[in-house]
Amino acid sequence: MNTKTKQLLDRLNETHTLELDEYEYLLSNADEESMAYAAAYAVAYQKKYYGNKVYIRGLVEFTNYCRNNCFYCGIRKDNNACERYRLSVEEILDCADTGYDLGFRTLVLQGGEDAFFSDEMMCEIIRGVKDSHPDMVVTLSIGEKSRKSYEAFYESGARRYLLRHETANPELYRKLHPKEMSWENRMKCLRDLRDIGYQVGAGFMVESPYQTMRDLAYDLKFIEEFHPDMCGIGPYISHQDTPFSDKKSGTLNVTLYCLSLIRMIYPQVLLPATTALGTIDAKGREKGILAGANVVMPNLSPTDVRKKYSLYDHKICTGEEAAECINCLKGRISSIGYEIVTDQGNRAGF
Ligand code: SAM
Ligand code: FES
Repeated sequence: MNTKTKQLLDRLNETHTLELDEYEYLLSNADEESMAYAAAYAVAYQKKYYGNKVYIRGLVEFTNYCRNNCFYCGIRKDNNACERYRLSVEEILDCADTGYDLGFRTLVLQGGEDAFFSDEMMCEIIRGVKDSHPDMVVTLSIGEKSRKSYEAFYESGARRYLLRHETANPELYRKLHPKEMSWENRMKCLRDLRDIGYQVGAGFMVESPYQTMRDLAYDLKFIEEFHPDMCGIGPYISHQDTPFSDKKSGTLNVTLYCLSLIRMIYPQVLLPATTALGTIDAKGREKGILAGANVVMPNLSPTDVRKKYSLYDHKICTGEEAAECINCLKGRISSIGYEIVTDQGNRAGF
């Protein structure tokens, strides 16, 4: 680690802010020593706000139909090789019951942007979960909607929303998405969600095609300025049936460094060790926690549909039942001296 890197990391630790050029410098000059130095600062904050507790969220991937065509995503509309499925309302509510019985107090309903699930249906599902389990927090991750829809979901009882900003650089956004999709609208959605009162999750892919260290610096600056309650990041992983099938996947180390930097930028943030991280490295999620992450999101979807929610190749945990997944994760987390907790898991200070 050179002197400038050490100075920048020390200053970030004290002030939680750096200039764009300085973030870029850190990312461009990363080495093992600077990563370990950042991780030590990050873990000190993680311990201060969350102790050795790791929050779990039960993820239900309830539809892989999507009207969008993001160039990187395996469930994009034009991927004819993708075998489509939708869970019924009953099946979704069954997943919530299973999750509740396993101790989950946060349910994440994720899907492609699927118009089959009208606002009325979504509200019915949210109310269904809340009626059976008033202490379960409903999180949605169903993409870009109108402010009116977001308001209706909130009124029905949803309290968190995950919508990755994908990249804070509009030019890179245009290289990753077809022209019908707009960075401006994605940002507007995030502002609407915050304004309505949701705990908001933003996030981005690490080392996606065409992304430079400058782009990643923009993402870090965005996290510093927007302060999302949660920040979901994971490596980009290529999918064989997308226009980006020949593009290189992201790496473990850059992702881990970003996790540590994000924890230093916003010490109380909820930071998941994502499935994508567990996919590029057998111990990716454990390493993510040791770099500052404090959330894991095991899958609660029925096993027969898991493989079909294939955003990228070789996704892990597609064969296990929910109970197996949670036991496996409990073992993994305790092996590194942490403990899974089954409370609602709000952001510290929320
Ligand atoms: N449709 C919702 C949305 O757009 O927010 C939620 C589902 S979307 C598939 C969830 C996230 O998966 C995206 O925000 C994106 O960052 C991530 N993702 C998609 N394809 C990926 C890939 N090839 N590698 C890594 N992450 C990917
Ligand atoms: Fe799903 Fe390990 S977390 S099998």
